[in-house]
Amino acid sequence: MLPCCLGVLEQEQHHRQLSIHKLKRRRASRRRGACARKHGAAGVDVTAVCYDGLIHGCGVVCGTVVTSHHPDYAEGAIVSNLGVWADYQIGTPQTVHPMGDARPVPVVDAFSTFAVVGPTAYFGLLDISEPKAGETVVVSAAAGAVGSIVGQIAKIKGCRVVGLAGTQEKCAWIQDDLGFDVAINYRT
Ligand SMILES: NC(=O)c1ccc[n+]([C@@H]2O[C@H](COP(=O)([O-])OP(=O)(O)OC[C@H]3O[C@@H](n4cnc5c(N)ncnc54)[C@H](OP(=O)(O)O)[C@@H]3O)[C@@H](O)[C@H]2O)c1
Repeated sequence: MLPCCLGVLEQEQHHRQLSIHKLKRRRASRRRGACARKHGAAGVDVTAVCYDGLIHGCGVVCGTVVTSHHPDYAEGAIVSNLGVWADYQIGTPQTVHPMGDARPVPVVDAFSTFAVVGPTAYFGLLDISEPKAGETVVVSAAAGAVGSIVGQIAKIKGCRVVGLAGTQEKCAWIQDDLGFDVAINYRT
């Protein structure tokens, strides 16, 4: 178990999931050199950031409250925060957020697809672009996290969907598996 101590003892969280976004992986890799120099490269996950002797998840951590001294956080509640990757962590209401009851969505999906990527795709497409059935929607980075969902939502809304991606494999995936009408490999 890694040492962990964050702030006032109000809640102890048992970690179950760690979500690492690509943006955060990039930030992590920039810090990896300094981390390896200080603590040694062995055992340090390339997707993690290591400082103060701890591996910081560099992403959102999801866990179950095992001990609570705060009335708003019941033991057994599922919570998330930007935390360290450790078996247990101590948090406060300022740092830890209840995830609520996501059923019937599995926690791992509530924590990934429905957490940031999905809302980005959903509101970006529907609230900003406001596509109408029959219109053509062109999606760049179509095989990426956001683009792949944008294309599927656009199909549900009755649009013709064209996706741009950088490899034949990605093009095949968005067309065959995700249902894009057209996939263009912009590198060829
Ligand atoms: N993920 C989120 O939750 C989130 C939230 C808010 C905003 N965004 C924004 O939404 C956009 C897509 O994010 P994402 O998470 O879906 O990205 P992603 O899954 O990392 O996909 C990125 C893809 O973009 C394509 N790409 C095209 N030009 C690129 C370039 N110059 N450098 C790097 N990649 C390039 C690459 O695919 P090809 O080789 O197939 O072109 C790459 O795989 C980004 O602008 C991001 O900042 C994302």
